Amino acid sequence: MDGLVIKHNELTAEEFIYLWESVWGNGPTLEQTRLAMEHTLFRVSVFDGEKIVAMARMIGDMGLDYYIKDVIVHPDYQKKGIGRLLINELLKFVNDNGISGTRIFVELCAMPDKIPFYKKFGFDRNEAERLKMMYTVK
Ligand SMILES: CC(C)(COP(=O)(O)OP(=O)(O)OC[C@H]1O[C@@H](n2cnc3c(N)ncnc32)[C@H](O)[C@@H]1OP(=O)(O)O)[C@@H](O)C(=O)NCCC(=O)NCCS
Repeated sequence: MDGLVIKHNELTAEEFIYLWESVWGNGPTLEQTRLAMEHTLFRVSVFDGEKIVAMARMIGDMGLDYYIKDVIVHPDYQKKGIGRLLINELLKFVNDNGISGTRIFVELCAMPDKIPFYKKFGFDRNEAERLKMMYTVK
């Protein structure tokens, strides 16, 4: 798409919640999201003029492991190549910051209907299963 602007590490908590709610409804709190943005390794956002239309972020340790989180293209902008652009930006970050010649583990969690999208970049299932809990902070 022409005219889109890609921004690095500028994604705000408010923008995050807006995009989250555009696809999943009822987002996290502002306070919790601000803390998360502050500690995210790399944030990508895409703008059409003044309007944010997509985001993705990477958490990780730079050397060994990365985890892709919150890849979201606003429903009005899907199927135009922006999702591909987001993943390419994240992988470029890995490539630009990793130690040349080393292998780095990049993982993510995807709903079954999104797996074909991620396979286009080389991601695939492995035998490990995702375990999770929603821990309540006391
Ligand atoms: C998944 C998502 C990020 C894809 O973004 P998008 O901008 O629509 O994708 P693109 O237009 O860049 O598509 C890139 C390629 O993947 C394909 N693709 C996209 N979504 C797909 C899907 N669900 N199944 C199969 N292929 C898909 C496209 O056809 C395109 O293929 P091509 O390059 O060979 O023509 C977007 O649908 C989205 O934000 N969904 C809601 C949030 C979400 O579920 N995020 C993923 C969390 S796991």
